[in-house]
Amino acid sequence: MAKLCVNVDHVATIREARKTNEPDPVAAALIAERAGAIGITIHLREDRRHIQDRDLRLMRQVVRGKLNLEMAPVSEMKCIALDVKPEQVTLVPERREEITTEGGLDVAGNIEQIAGLMKPLREAGLLLSLFIDPHHKQIEAAKELNADFVELNTAAYSEANAHVSQEKELTSLRNASLQAHELGIGVHAGHGLTYLNVEAVACLPYLQELNIGHSIVSYSVFVGFERAVREMSDIISRVGSA
Ligand code: PXP
Repeated sequence: MAKLCVNVDHVATIREARKTNEPDPVAAALIAERAGAIGITIHLREDRRHIQDRDLRLMRQVVRGKLNLEMAPVSEMKCIALDVKPEQVTLVPERREEITTEGGLDVAGNIEQIAGLMKPLREAGLLLSLFIDPHHKQIEAAKELNADFVELNTAAYSEANAHVSQEKELTSLRNASLQAHELGIGVHAGHGLTYLNVEAVACLPYLQELNIGHSIVSYSVFVGFERAVREMSDIISRVGSA
């Protein structure tokens, strides 16, 4: 059954809008865990637009479940990960001009660079996940790199607004999940998931974790963060036990 990891980046986005000290994403992480999240995900971006180094270091001390650090495959981030040692690192592509992550990492096209970056992280005992589009060749490349997990990018599914195109994207996600499992790679998924579209993804075979942020933070403005996390966690558990 899939479990929820809550991405608290956009709690930090609100704080950074005023460059003040509230709301604190570290407090959000504690509330999310109390409300049923099995892990906390944060993306330390090179431009530090939301999560700051201080957030990562404090979360390392207080998060009890899995701390998943999303980061670009660059030397600066590798050094930070080696210093802070989250349980898991997820490598994601990053462009400064983008509003959010825009597609999966091209693992197949950058095997050597990514292998070089993964080596010290693996030697330090960190779990390694690669955020990829649900394509055959990317999963094969993840296998070649001996990744522990792939995180399947659900953006195309989330953005598909017709039933037919949504079904097509779900089929790609399903095939990717089966392929990863056959190759011995664990399966995570995320990006753009909401209370309204998460169910079909939560049903994917062999799915272990879902990373969800923006929709939870958005809903929390109206109902509070604890309830927003609990409702998302409940939807995922309901689907898993159906
Ligand atoms: N997974 C990855 C790799 C991401 O980059 C993001 C966005 O930061 C998410 C999951 C969560 O996406 P959302 O905020 O749309 O739920």
